Amino acid sequence: MSKIVVSIPGDGIGPEVVAVAERVLLQVAPSLRLERAEAGFGCYQRQGTSLPASTLEMARSSGAVLFGAVTTPPAIPGYQSAVLGLRRGLDLFANVRPARSVPVTGSRMGVDLVIVRENTEGLYCGIERREAGRAVSERVISERGSARIVRHALELATRQRRKRVTLVHKANILRETCGLFRRVGREVAAGFPAIELEEMLVDTCAYELVRRPERFEVIVTTNLFGDILSDVAAAVTGGLGLATSANLGEGAALFEPVHGSAPDIAGRGTANPLAAVGAAAMLLGHLGLEAERMRVEAAISAVLLNGPRTPDLGGEAGTGEVERALLDLLR
Ligand code: NAD
Ligand code: IPM
Ligand code: MN
Repeated sequence: MSKIVVSIPGDGIGPEVVAVAERVLLQVAPSLRLERAEAGFGCYQRQGTSLPASTLEMARSSGAVLFGAVTTPPAIPGYQSAVLGLRRGLDLFANVRPARSVPVTGSRMGVDLVIVRENTEGLYCGIERREAGRAVSERVISERGSARIVRHALELATRQRRKRVTLVHKANILRETCGLFRRVGREVAAGFPAIELEEMLVDTCAYELVRRPERFEVIVTTNLFGDILSDVAAAVTGGLGLATSANLGEGAALFEPVHGSAPDIAGRGTANPLAAVGAAAMLLGHLGLEAERMRVEAAISAVLLNGPRTPDLGGEAGTGEVERALLDLLR
């Protein structure tokens, strides 16, 4: 596999946290070749596009992409989100978002779950139109899309020796789209008799994630439900400053924090870089650098235990202090 990692810092705190993740990567795996590429709103202002063809091409031919975060302004007609363009352009159909308990105030105990979110269709398929006096979004759920994401979740559960996958839907109301997702999911799960397939309505799932997050092992769901539920899962396990994700397909792979460009704290040097560093750890695992992945995860755990901590975790440290602590641990 190519050891070229394409790094796309993006906007807001994206560049601040990606810089830390890049230095961590080079510290533990100096043989990686890091190449920078542009995407996002700043890129749009400079180049007239949020996702240049050259960035997509570099991402496609890389071993993995490290992505920061981008700003997506809602009011610019025709503007396309760069991260959605990458997910769709590279057919990264599985968005895998782990949420685990950590030793910080606000994190619940005993949580170790993974959300497997369909990443290419649903309400994100981009079929929207204005009609007289109303606006319409189409929600496309396909048999192929549902089958491959549920299979991905079941295979992940099998690999991680987990016993239960919770399929989350709203088929009581969205009878066709969620109905199809549910039916196909049950068919696929029949081929995995060792894994229990549990079903849950999405509103109940949000409630249970707050009330009893430790009850979940693997959640598989459609695109927008997975987006929302993964922020809930992050909130009960230390917050968005820690939540990481992998976007996986047949070929390319992209690793990113779950958080966005955080304009409210950008430029202050206080962003928590641990989500981006956690994404870099997942990237190392994807490249087969398992020992390096474990070293980075151990360094993250040590920093969470002993500090320094950024303000989102109740501390007063800056991004740079957390970086120095990580690099010291990894020397
Ligand atoms: P956000 O995730 O950027 O921020 C939500 C809250 O969490 C803010 O209070 C922010 O300060 C805090 N936060 C996020 N990451 C943090 C970190 N690493 N350290 C400390 N605090 C952190 O969500 P938002 O404010 O709703 O969105 C801002 C922009 O980001 C929007 O343009 C949105 O479209 C975009 N966005 C991009 C991505 C992505 O690139 N993958 C993801 C989510 C949102
Ligand atoms: C995420 C973000 C993105 C999403 C946005 C920025 C397109 O919220 O990665 O969770 O909705 O998937
Ligand atoms: Mn989100």
